[in-house]
Amino acid sequence: MHARSLRYLSFADVDLFGATAALNRIYENYVFPFTMSEAQTALHLTANDIDLGASPLWYDGDELVAAALIGIRADRAWIGGFGVVPEYRGAGHGRALLAQVIAKCRMRATHVQLEVLVQNAPAIATYAGAGFCAERKLLSHSLDVTTVLGVPPAIEEIEPPLGIVDAGAPSWQCERESLQRQPNVRGLRRGRAALIFRSGATVAQILAASVADAAELAELSSGLAAVTGVRKVLMFNQQEGSEAARAAEESGWQLAFAQHEMRVTL
Ligand SMILES: CC(C)(COP(=O)(O)OP(=O)(O)OC[C@H]1O[C@@H](n2cnc3c(N)ncnc32)[C@H](O)[C@@H]1OP(=O)(O)O)[C@@H](O)C(=O)NCCC(=O)NCCS
Repeated sequence: MHARSLRYLSFADVDLFGATAALNRIYENYVFPFTMSEAQTALHLTANDIDLGASPLWYDGDELVAAALIGIRADRAWIGGFGVVPEYRGAGHGRALLAQVIAKCRMRATHVQLEVLVQNAPAIATYAGAGFCAERKLLSHSLDVTTVLGVPPAIEEIEPPLGIVDAGAPSWQCERESLQRQPNVRGLRRGRAALIFRSGATVAQILAASVADAAELAELSSGLAAVTGVRKVLMFNQQEGSEAARAAEESGWQLAFAQHEMRVTL
């Protein structure tokens, strides 16, 4: 649908309820079902340095048309949410929204980065059209935990070992700043191998891993399942070809999803 006349607001103009509702609207009919709770939105905004005033919210009268979230760290910018509501797709709003996002970032950053699911053709076309190039692939693997043994003796829970983050090439949401701002991030170590994770009731998410091989990943993940009681472990956004991603592949983890990390220099 073509908008009659757009009103340009930002996420600073709405409360957490409005921000969550807007994000859930722009992700309708996404590649897979995706909704956020208000608590998840609040964590996403604060942990990932989203600049609410810079993040556009577009309306056609009172109808939401499009929205984007911009994160800023030093001289780097990140798109942490981007979309057009279904009724307005295919009419150039995505392209125009991205142009506005880039214009806002140009004043503050030397480049903009983002992640996009490899099967999200409309989004990839939109980003490529604005000059974004895929730099690397980020893989998220999952493991269903069938048997939970006791915590292996050599496993110890530790403060999140943020040094392993700096030693790797983390995606934005796994950078030190994001991990430090989340209340429930924990660490696990076995000898020189270590994990940083957060855990819900049924799924634990590994946000950083320092493992040399499949055996170290298997030992740490069974320790993780025992410590948390979860039945599923997701290892999030590991670079394709990294030791952690290769260890997951070699020990039978399933590929849950793959993303391109794209970037444009300003
Ligand atoms: C991705 C999205 C923002 C595109 O917005 P849009 O308003 O429909 O896009 P536009 O009409 O501005 O078109 C932008 C480009 O995408 C292409 N495109 C749009 N829909 C497409 C489709 N279904 N298949 C392939 N390409 C498509 C257009 O051809 C255009 O490319 P061009 O400039 O080379 O012609 C929109 O589909 C969306 O909100 N999707 C759900 C949320 C989402 O996936 N967000 C991205 C998260 S990383």
